Amino acid sequence: MASGQPINWRADVPVRGNVQRKENVRNPETLPSSEIAAETNVRAPGGCQQVVTEPSPGPKTTSPLRPAWVEIDLRKLRRNFELIHQDKPNDVQVLAVVKDEGYGHGALPVARTALECGASFLALSTLEEAIALRDRGLQCRLLLLGDRQENELPFCVEHELTCCVSEPRTVDKLGELAARAGTRVPVHLKINTGMNRYGVLWTEAGALAERICATKSLALEGVLSHFAQSDEADKTFANLQYARFNEALAEMTRRSIAVKLRHLCNSGGFLDLRHAQFDMVRLGILPLGVFPSSVCRRIPGIEPVMSVKARIAAIQSLQPGDSVGYGMRFTATSRRRIAVLPLGYGDGFPRVRNQGCALIHGQRAPLVGGVAMDALTVDITDIPAAQLWDEAVMMGRQAAAEISVHEVAKLRGSVSYDVLTAWRTRLPRIYLT
Ligand SMILES: Cc1ncc(COP(=O)(O)O)c(C=O)c1O
Repeated sequence: MASGQPINWRADVPVRGNVQRKENVRNPETLPSSEIAAETNVRAPGGCQQVVTEPSPGPKTTSPLRPAWVEIDLRKLRRNFELIHQDKPNDVQVLAVVKDEGYGHGALPVARTALECGASFLALSTLEEAIALRDRGLQCRLLLLGDRQENELPFCVEHELTCCVSEPRTVDKLGELAARAGTRVPVHLKINTGMNRYGVLWTEAGALAERICATKSLALEGVLSHFAQSDEADKTFANLQYARFNEALAEMTRRSIAVKLRHLCNSGGFLDLRHAQFDMVRLGILPLGVFPSSVCRRIPGIEPVMSVKARIAAIQSLQPGDSVGYGMRFTATSRRRIAVLPLGYGDGFPRVRNQGCALIHGQRAPLVGGVAMDALTVDITDIPAAQLWDEAVMMGRQAAAEISVHEVAKLRGSVSYDVLTAWRTRLPRIYLT
């Protein structure tokens, strides 16, 4: 049977800059995260351990790490999970949503940290994502969000992946496959309470739950729905969905159907609709240190896990009348000092012109000209200490200054979720542990 696509996150650790080179480093994908630091033994200036991964598989390379990278601070991820655990009642379980490479942070390191911090389930979107985690040795409960097609179901049974079901045909087919495999497969019934994407309509959920219960080879372990609007100030529709969910649950009770795991909340719901937390919450963006919107409740101490950084690759001195880059989108009206940063829209940075900034020496350096595929330019005239190879932050903190995910999202004309997942794999990931 075919196995999942390989995930392009390696750790053959060619390192540069402030990180020392270490040969024969084992791949952290195959290690428990508690071992990662000990195995790699590369030390960052702040004393923390770094694990460097390369974006694509292939032969070991001796080339230096690219001077533009995504930094993932697993210590912050751990702390965020701790704060989330303190914020919720003890009996509410956490399911960590690690789809789309853990929202761009790397599915495996995020998954491992989540499990070590007490998550009882992980959730993914595609079969390939789930099988990739199985192939890397994760034996925990994995829930596949969304609906599965018929040809995917045998793989779900084989790899012990828990499916969301919302169609009688899926129930019957999965039941058949489970019976043939001589096993009893747990399923979660997905209810449409107003999102109108996946799920059986809440008024019809009782009947489908009964069909699942009548299938001996299936066990109705969970019932879930998904909020369409949980992180906005107006909770009217979210509360209507909550009421519909309760209506469906009451109908199951009337039919003497007991369900162990009822779950409705994503991060926005977890923060602002505590009455809807039920038995489990499904958290994606919050443990990564990003609040889903500007209006939802804050948990003090939660911090972003991802930063994007680059080193100054060149410095140009402009005279009045000189322009910068393609299309000459910026022309100096006075003498300016311009730093070239070696990342661009080919790395996922928004393709803007004369908008946005980088942090250099803890100060904002405005972006000038247009963003190219592999480079962008910032004005460092007001940062005289800035020099070649200095570190610049495109997203994250430097000293007291910060460029938030939401600020980058504004540049991109999009949302934080899109920004986190948009950084391309050609940017190496560095893990701080
Ligand atoms: C069904 C479902 N539950 C939970 C989540 C997690 O959402 P969030 O990242 O806002 O916590 C998602 C993410 O899209 C989802 O699709």
